[in-house]
Amino acid sequence: MTRVTKAVFPVAGLGTRFLPVTKASPKEMLPIVDKPLIQYAAEEAIAAGINELIFVTGRNKRSIEDHFDKAYELEMELKADGKQDLLDVVQNVLPNSTSCVYIRQPEALGLGHAVLCAKQVIGNDPFAVILADDLIRSELGVLRQMTDLYDRHQCSVIGVQNVAREDTHSYGIVKGKASGDRIYSVEAIVEKPHPDKAPSTLAVVGRYLLTPRIFELLERVTPGAGGEIQLTDGIAALLSHEQVLAYEFLGKRYDCGNKSGYLQATVEYALEHPELKEKFHAYLKGLKF
Ligand code: G1P
Repeated sequence: MTRVTKAVFPVAGLGTRFLPVTKASPKEMLPIVDKPLIQYAAEEAIAAGINELIFVTGRNKRSIEDHFDKAYELEMELKADGKQDLLDVVQNVLPNSTSCVYIRQPEALGLGHAVLCAKQVIGNDPFAVILADDLIRSELGVLRQMTDLYDRHQCSVIGVQNVAREDTHSYGIVKGKASGDRIYSVEAIVEKPHPDKAPSTLAVVGRYLLTPRIFELLERVTPGAGGEIQLTDGIAALLSHEQVLAYEFLGKRYDCGNKSGYLQATVEYALEHPELKEKFHAYLKGLKF
């Protein structure tokens, strides 16, 4: 039996929907209250038993590496000032047992291409792919819910959620046969279909567990939707070789790739933040619309 211990974080995207803030800073470093999106994603992976984080990065992404690195001067200052609580925050961004690998994706050729860049590091192991701008709040982390399924079925698992039919053109859409509680056996998957052509309204959100066979298939994928090498097309090819499950996860997803979803996440996470929740709640109640 194999277990998933590696996760790929494709973080080379330009984040144009958030310009100008993303002109010189990665969108994955946008904070939700006091933590960057990429840290929520890393924490979700670690809670699922993953200990090797592989970031597929690009230009302007240095701050992601710095965020997960030791902050020597800052730590010395905090120590000298006796600010132990802040020192703990800085030192515990990742547990010591976690290692990070950074790979450059020289050109943004698509999600499938980004995943393919991690081939050498992944080797012959199953792995997770996490899109940090899909932030998902749940009691048990979504990736953990999915690795539990992987442990039982030893096959690729894709996180899905029902969306409005008019939104299918923004997602990979799965056609599946119900095969258990919230589980579907995937029969087809298409990237960003027009609502009239979508085979269902089950949309892929940014969580995947994949078997390493995906790499040889991604190598043969030609540009698809939007002229990009799509991960969805690699998964479609995988279907003729292996079983793939879609899993309707438990949790609330915020699309932090757009401003509205990002603001919703900020408000809801602030309403749960121990330091802020009471005052922020009172502030929101007092707002006049
Ligand atoms: C990517 C995937 C798509 C998936 C989506 C989830 O699209 O290609 O299949 O449904 O993420 O967020 P993107 O949003 O990068 O265009």
